[in-house]
Amino acid sequence: MLEIKNLYARIEDGAQILKGINLEIKPGEVHAIMGPNGAGKSTLSSVIAGKEDYEVTEGEILFQGENIIEDAPEERAHKGIFLSFQYPVEIPGVSVTNFIKAALNENRKANGLDEMSAKDMLGMIREKSEKLGIKKDFLSRSLNEGFSGGEKKRNEIFQMMMLNPKLAILDETDSGLDIDALRIVADGVNTFKNEGNAVLLITHYQRLLNYIQPDFVHVLANGRIIKTGDKSLALELEEKGYDWLLN
Ligand SMILES: Nc1ncnc2c1ncn2[C@@H]1O[C@H](COP(=O)(O)OP(=O)(O)O)[C@@H](O)[C@H]1O
Ligand SMILES: [Mg+2]
Repeated sequence: MLEIKNLYARIEDGAQILKGINLEIKPGEVHAIMGPNGAGKSTLSSVIAGKEDYEVTEGEILFQGENIIEDAPEERAHKGIFLSFQYPVEIPGVSVTNFIKAALNENRKANGLDEMSAKDMLGMIREKSEKLGIKKDFLSRSLNEGFSGGEKKRNEIFQMMMLNPKLAILDETDSGLDIDALRIVADGVNTFKNEGNAVLLITHYQRLLNYIQPDFVHVLANGRIIKTGDKSLALELEEKGYDWLLN
């Protein structure tokens, strides 16, 4: 599904951050990326999603066999790449529901589909929100306005479920996540996951991996993946930190 080959990227006119990333994600897989602060984890997720603050200087990103490096972020989203919290803006007067309706219909349009009928949309919102334990009053709140950490996570997971991407990238940058927020993310990923999609989970919370079973765990440091293993690697990192890998 996603194949990253020898990827080098830098901040526009700035330092080189990614220095030769190789990563292959197949349908049905969950990959976790861990690593010290400043390693380039968020940069990698931004570069996959196509954020324009970064410049790819070498390498390829293939999504379903197609090089997407030249695609704008919206095009990548329309092809089925979702990055959590890509839209952190507060929009007073636009509810959680209205925002996702617009995003979903825009996505459908880009893929040559008609707008979803109000009835189908409502049915889908009901189904997904019930699955995630989201209450009605949350759905009518203004997007991101005064959201707590947990509510932001709930909104992200709801967006992921509704947009139903092929590849979901969740970047858990927030250091203030409490156990409830971690559970929201974990339950969301476990509900979302199926044999036809994939998840790239970026986290420095080993604890999150107690609730989500990754197929692969990668350690990213200094812009490179320096080690890949299974779930046991996450436990080893929890115990030993990253220093033993860095020398
Ligand atoms: N837009 C940016 N402007 C300036 N420096 C940046 C930018 N994005 C990332 N960096 C720098 O790149 C390095 C990697 O950052 P980041 O990808 O956020 O790491 P991580 O998510 O692993 O903590 C850091 O040194 C960070 O300061
Ligand atoms: Mg980060």
